Amino acid sequence: MIVLGIESSCDETAAALVRDDGLVLADVVASQIKLHAPYGGVVPELASRAHLTNIVPVIEQALAVLPRGLSEVDAIAVTNGPGLVGALLVGVQAAKAMAWAKQKPLVGVNHLVGHLLAVYLRRDPASQPLALPMPYVALLASGGHTALYQVDDAQRIQQLGCTRDDAAGEAFDKVGKLLGLGYPGGPIVDKLAALGDPTAVRLPLPMRNKQSLEFSFSGLKTAVAQHVAKHGRPDSDQARADLCASFQRAVVTSLVLKSVAACKQQNVPRLVLGGGVAANRGLRALAQEHCTRAGIDLFVPPLASCTDNAAMIAYAGAQRLVRGERDDLDLTVFSSSPI
Ligand code: KG4
Ligand code: ZN
Repeated sequence: MIVLGIESSCDETAAALVRDDGLVLADVVASQIKLHAPYGGVVPELASRAHLTNIVPVIEQALAVLPRGLSEVDAIAVTNGPGLVGALLVGVQAAKAMAWAKQKPLVGVNHLVGHLLAVYLRRDPASQPLALPMPYVALLASGGHTALYQVDDAQRIQQLGCTRDDAAGEAFDKVGKLLGLGYPGGPIVDKLAALGDPTAVRLPLPMRNKQSLEFSFSGLKTAVAQHVAKHGRPDSDQARADLCASFQRAVVTSLVLKSVAACKQQNVPRLVLGGGVAANRGLRALAQEHCTRAGIDLFVPPLASCTDNAAMIAYAGAQRLVRGERDDLDLTVFSSSPI
């Protein structure tokens, strides 16, 4: 089965073609980063308008890999939440129009479920499907979400804990903004952190003594703001790198300790990382270190599968379709909801 996936929940307009066994045939992403950069965050109205401009070209580009285009597609899957409603509507209306015109089955996909199953995507036709049995524990850390889940199967996903305030990516971006590093801050902080000393600035380790699997990053963000208020913005490359390294270490230590604790609590020795923050080199390295020590198998998908994309939506949609589910023209959007 070949599924056309469409994603427009935030600031990426994306379309992909994926087989139900996870093989990616096409994966097109039009990023709006440059559009939102001057504002230091996503502006919903601008996002919707850019989706409107980009959606048809992005879908056409994905379909171009099939000699007979849309006729070769068995079904359409589209993100219908959570996300910015005006942004979601663009993808959902495009998907509905195609499903109606070509009489194709249509399913809605929860964006978070897409992230949680993205580990099964494979881009090399010669590769075998991933040998990752369920259940597994997944850490989803992005700009909008930070939570731990147990994935029993594609339809049984349980949230184990989430952030009480900021998402991890949001904290990276806010600290990036505070230090005048540009948008989004995450990848820049990551790069600078590699050159800094993580013990240089004393910062609180969020939720350290709590037994719960919840996260909190706003206190850490405030601690960085107070440090800057007291000492001024770091004016040397080394001081900037040291502050980034200290902040990043606090975030990733919290993410890794809670993730390992979740695996132990659930007695599930498999951890999957997902979401844009999974690109962070400090997170990957520390997760590997702690997982090896605890006898947990760690799975980190390639970057293209971690950040927002439509291949994960097509794959998650395919799992609904093979169970015989479909929404067709009844599909509606939702802005926020747990899984
Ligand atoms: O999953 P994603 O592409 O979009 C959603 O938010 O859904 O994640 C984007 C987030 C941004 O906050 C970005 O700063 C963060 O992921 N990010 C990183 C890195 N790369 C992206 N954070 C830390 N280190 C990175 N290398
Ligand atoms: Zn996302």
